[in-house]
Order: sequence, then C-alpha cells, then structure tokens
Amino acid sequence: MRTAGIPFGVVAAALAGAGLLAGRPAQAEPRRYDLPEPTAQLRPAPGHEAGLSAAEANCQACHSVDYIAMQPPGKGAAFWTSEVTKMRKVYHAPISEADGKAIADYLAAAY
Ligand code: HEC
Repeated sequence: MRTAGIPFGVVAAALAGAGLLAGRPAQAEPRRYDLPEPTAQLRPAPGHEAGLSAAEANCQACHSVDYIAMQPPGKGAAFWTSEVTKMRKVYHAPISEADGKAIADYLAAAY
C-alpha cells in the first residue's frame, strides 16, 4: 500500500479550487431559455390561395410569420415584391421566381 506522495484527487481539487482546471466555476449550470410560442398565422386572402400556400411552404423556414404580420398594414405590392426579392437574393431563400411573385401578390392582398 502506497503511503507517500499527494493523492491525485487532492491536487485536482486544489487546482479546481484555484480556478485553474476549467477556467470557470466547476458548478456552472447550463443556461435554459423559454422561447415564446409563435403567435401569428398567415391570413387568408380570397383569390390568393396559391400564394398563401406558397407563403406557408416558403416563408416560415427561417423565421416566424410575426415578421410578416408586424409590418405596418397597407404597404402594397411594391413593398412586398421587394421584401420577397430580398429574402431570395440577400438571404438565399430557395424560392422560384414564379412562387415569389404569387407570394408577393398574396401578401399585398392580405396585409
Ligand atoms: C433563407 C431564410 C429566409 C426565408 C426562407 C425567408 N426569410 Fe424573411 N428574413 C430572413 C432574415 C435573415 C431576415 C432578417 C432578420 C433580422 O434582421 O433579424 C428576414 C426578415 C424578414 C422580414 C422583416 C423585415 C426585413 O426586411 O428585415 C419580413 C417581412 C420577411 N422576412 C418576410 C419574409 C417572407 C414574405 C418570406 C417568404 C417569401 C421570407 N421572409 C422567407 C430570412 C428568411
């Protein structure tokens, strides 16, 4: 049986106590965040069912519908066309030009 020397556990505990092992407190809890439930659903717009389904399929992949619903109402076709173009060209949303047009027409009618 070994009687001389310092047991490893004592050295590790001393280092941990001095903050040298992990560089931060050994007891840190993982952080948890409760995200709010998405609140908005895309509104229907008569005559724009195809645009609505294209928007449902393509506009909720990266963010919630709240981004659409929070825009000031009545911004019109030019605004929504450029918004959809921005999602495609700047953020690389994989949406065809035809779907993009149907979505912009739908959004201009619904919002
Ligand atoms: C590839 C990911 C992606 C997809 C798909 C996408 N968006 Fe976005 N969208 C973004 C990003 C990134 C932002 C900017 C987020 C920020 O600034 O916090 C954004 C922001 C927005 C905004 C807020 C105003 C603005 O210009 O920043 C609106 C409105 C919006 N998106 C509408 C849409 C619509 C409509 C569609 C479907 C055609 C869509 N998004 C699909 C990535 C995406």
